[in-house]
Amino acid sequence: MNRMGRGIVRQFRNLLYAHIQDLPLSFFHMEKTGVLMSRIINDVNIVKTMVSSAVTASLRDIFTVVGLIGLIFYLDWKMASLAFVALPLAFYPLVEFGRRIRRISTRGQEAMAEMSAFLHETFAGAKIVKAFGMEDFEKRRFFAKTERLYRIEMKEVRVDELTSPVMEFIGGLGIAASIFYGGFRVFSGDLTPGTFFSFVTGTMMLYAPVKKLSKVNNAVQRGLAATDRIFEILERRSEIREIERPVTLAKRPHTVRFEHVGFAYGGDGAPPVLQDINLEARAGEVIALVGMSGGGKTSLVNLIPRFFDVTAGAIRIDGVDIREASLVSLREQIAIVTQEPILFNETVRDNIAYGNPQASEADIQNAARAAYAWDFIASFPKGFDTLIGELGGRLSGGEKQRLCIARALLKDAPILILDEATSALDSESEILVQKALENLMRGRTTFIIAHRLSTIAHAHRIVVLVKGRIVEEGRHEDLLDRDGEYRKLYQMQFSDGEAPGTARAVVQGPSGRD
Ligand SMILES: Nc1ncnc2c1ncn2[C@@H]1O[C@H](COP(=O)(O)OP(=O)(O)O)[C@@H](O)[C@H]1O
Ligand SMILES: [Mg+2]
Repeated sequence: MNRMGRGIVRQFRNLLYAHIQDLPLSFFHMEKTGVLMSRIINDVNIVKTMVSSAVTASLRDIFTVVGLIGLIFYLDWKMASLAFVALPLAFYPLVEFGRRIRRISTRGQEAMAEMSAFLHETFAGAKIVKAFGMEDFEKRRFFAKTERLYRIEMKEVRVDELTSPVMEFIGGLGIAASIFYGGFRVFSGDLTPGTFFSFVTGTMMLYAPVKKLSKVNNAVQRGLAATDRIFEILERRSEIREIERPVTLAKRPHTVRFEHVGFAYGGDGAPPVLQDINLEARAGEVIALVGMSGGGKTSLVNLIPRFFDVTAGAIRIDGVDIREASLVSLREQIAIVTQEPILFNETVRDNIAYGNPQASEADIQNAARAAYAWDFIASFPKGFDTLIGELGGRLSGGEKQRLCIARALLKDAPILILDEATSALDSESEILVQKALENLMRGRTTFIIAHRLSTIAHAHRIVVLVKGRIVEEGRHEDLLDRDGEYRKLYQMQFSDGEAPGTARAVVQGPSGRD
């Protein structure tokens, strides 16, 4: 039974994790990390308790109870029937207690999930907690959460502990009645004292297992409450689905076309983030996206790997609607450097080779060189074998970004998305990384988002996004001449320096960051 309980836990955990991994990005934006962790760790454990302790224990007890009941009916069926007249009385409290336990247990599991989310948040954000002197505040918030959990648990204990006395009382009524009746028959000579005492012993031996069994229902209800929460996740369906027979995209240069694309987070009714986007990027072209923060640049590029689906129009790669392509092949076409540098707690080497396990040592080193990450990696005592976790906060934002760039370089995909990939670099390293990126962009379809306009002056086309619409599109020089939105952005960045005018030579301007 223990093997079964633990086996079920393993299966449930694997199922949950596999299912959650396949859910779309929007799911992760809606759910708190800590809550998901709590479902996989805590809720599954409750199911284990139900299976391995409650069900195991009760199996033995059930056999004992069945055997003893058989015995007392065999000894004297009239007396035995009398012992069970009170049984229907037990039904109502049993159901009622079970129902209460289930309700309280659900609340307990929610409180536990909330606590887990809180821990995740405040430990991950330890720097800010300290910087703002909020340690005591967070301690008090945590104490309030444990207090709440304690209260819920005590409530559950009260119901749980009340169950057996109530059941015992009802059982006692029946047994008392049968003993009274049996004793009466012994006096009248209808029953031998031997049978009578066997009967009494049998009913007494019923006491312990019945008492345990009365609590099993509570344990089962608790387990079912946890199962509900597990299935609530397992039944979620991904809205990013593949069609019946998806097209497999081949790894070669691609044309990416946005056709009247509209997008809103949270589906059709929500306020639009992108409206009527028409854009074509041919193989080898570099398309730069610029505009104020919040304009929808990140949202636009997130549509290409189907992190989200368009709510209107379509995106086509070589004429194939990306919703008709297989997700695996679609994402194989795309290398992405996201706005936030995300690395895993593995070695520097594993991080660069992430998603590319066959990469040779030489490939990894070349990628690191090209991303100008070589020098700082070489300066670590363990070099490429350094664990990112060991570095703690020692990696600077720029170093993290360069590792992310190296990782994207190694993927060697025909479509490249760079979302403010160099924003954390100083001007000097930016020029260096810029060169690496220019090498990388050659022959690929590139979408580049950069805040520093100087870094995108060489783009084949610059697209200016304002409030989710394309307001201008063209080359750097043309857009400057046009005296529109782009020129305004440009002048804002250079306002304290000498006017760049129609500057073809690119000046490294002060960075205008969010
Ligand atoms: N996951 C999300 N859910 C809901 N709204 C979002 C989400 N991400 C971004 N937004 C909103 O979409 C708009 C565009 O954001 P974004 O694409 O990140 O702009 P940019 O990259 O140009 O700064 C903003 O108003 C932002 O608040
Ligand atoms: Mg952005």
